[in-house]
Amino acid sequence: MSSEANVAKAGLEGIVAAQSSISDVNGIEGRLIYAGYDIHDLAEHATFEEVIYLLWHCKLPSRSELDQLKNQLSAETGLPKEIQQLIRSIPKTANPMDALRTVVSALSFYDPDGADMSREANVRKAIRLTAKFPTIVTTFQRLRNGLEPVQPRADLSIAGNFLYTLRGEAADEVATRTMDVAFILHADHELNASTFAARVTAATLSDMYSAIVSAIGTLKGPLHGGANEGVIKNLLEIGSVEGVEGWVKNAFERKQKIMGFGHRVYRTVDPRATHLKEMSRQLGQRTGETKWYEMSRKMEEVVMAEKRLNANVDFYSASTYYALGIPTDLFTPIFACSRISGWTAHVLEQFENNRLIRPRAEYVGPRDLKYVAISQR
Ligand code: COA
Repeated sequence: MSSEANVAKAGLEGIVAAQSSISDVNGIEGRLIYAGYDIHDLAEHATFEEVIYLLWHCKLPSRSELDQLKNQLSAETGLPKEIQQLIRSIPKTANPMDALRTVVSALSFYDPDGADMSREANVRKAIRLTAKFPTIVTTFQRLRNGLEPVQPRADLSIAGNFLYTLRGEAADEVATRTMDVAFILHADHELNASTFAARVTAATLSDMYSAIVSAIGTLKGPLHGGANEGVIKNLLEIGSVEGVEGWVKNAFERKQKIMGFGHRVYRTVDPRATHLKEMSRQLGQRTGETKWYEMSRKMEEVVMAEKRLNANVDFYSASTYYALGIPTDLFTPIFACSRISGWTAHVLEQFENNRLIRPRAEYVGPRDLKYVAISQR
């Protein structure tokens, strides 16, 4: 392809690649809406289960619709025994995102809806995946620590069950609500890289599981969901508020990217970071360990002064999860436990009005070369 109009746009920046009714990011005003509702409104008033319904159906559920969804989710939290065995066989040293990716891929063998591609079957697959993600993550976490998995409880929310099956005891209201709000904030974000990957896979009319496996692999990268783990690694390495400024300046001098800052779309504060920052502050006060929040604030201040970069969703989620006592390499899987709701919503939307996603490349290699026999190369 050699027409001038076909010059590559690095990173597809600014390219509108799909129509969607699920969520919208306004990068100039720093606004995020899910199906019409402002993220601040949802973070303050909704539950994650209501948000899941909103993303899948583009409307808030009635009481009976919500109860039905909760029952359906609760009935699907368990894992087939073959999958439990599979998780036992994964090396304890495996990266939890790799474990999640492998297990989700294998789960497709046991989905009772098999290759059924009807909307109803795909909604059921979305329910199963969303319900099972936290169980997979916490089962792997417990087994690698020599503990037996804990079965999710029917009376707990997704957030409540995540903490319960992780720790083996029910979490208090503050921890559960913190987790619930974190899940709401991470649930969807328009055509972010992992959602785009899911839609590209779905657009070939491949199945829901294949699309979600693509998404998990994409979320893992440090420029995307992997950034939250990178944030806490940096904070642990720095170790004190006093060390922050020098560390940041040094990183910039070495042209190193600082995890948790910058965004492709936001040119102002990421609205999700506002809530996570406050939750990080409150949890720090509650546990009496304010250091990680204070260090984060200092880092935010220095990065802004030096490079005018805003903190993104991954920045304060790191100190929030750390204050909840969650192992650092589960930070990105937690992101996945929330984003599975958005991924599945986008796959359902893609199937509704599908067209193969197949862009072009701007060829920059040589042309008109003549084959040379191997003996003469
Ligand atoms: N630390 C240091 N510099 C950064 C930076 C960061 N976190 N984010 C952006 N920049 C700088 C780049 O070095 C570049 O500077 P230059 O023009 O002098 O070369 C400029 O800002 C533009 O960055 P670029 O990487 O081209 O922007 P992008 O839109 O392609 O990337 C991100 C967006 C999110 C991938 C990028 O900001 C980043 O790598 N952030 C850290 C990882 C992260 O937190 N990811 C989670 C996103 S929610």
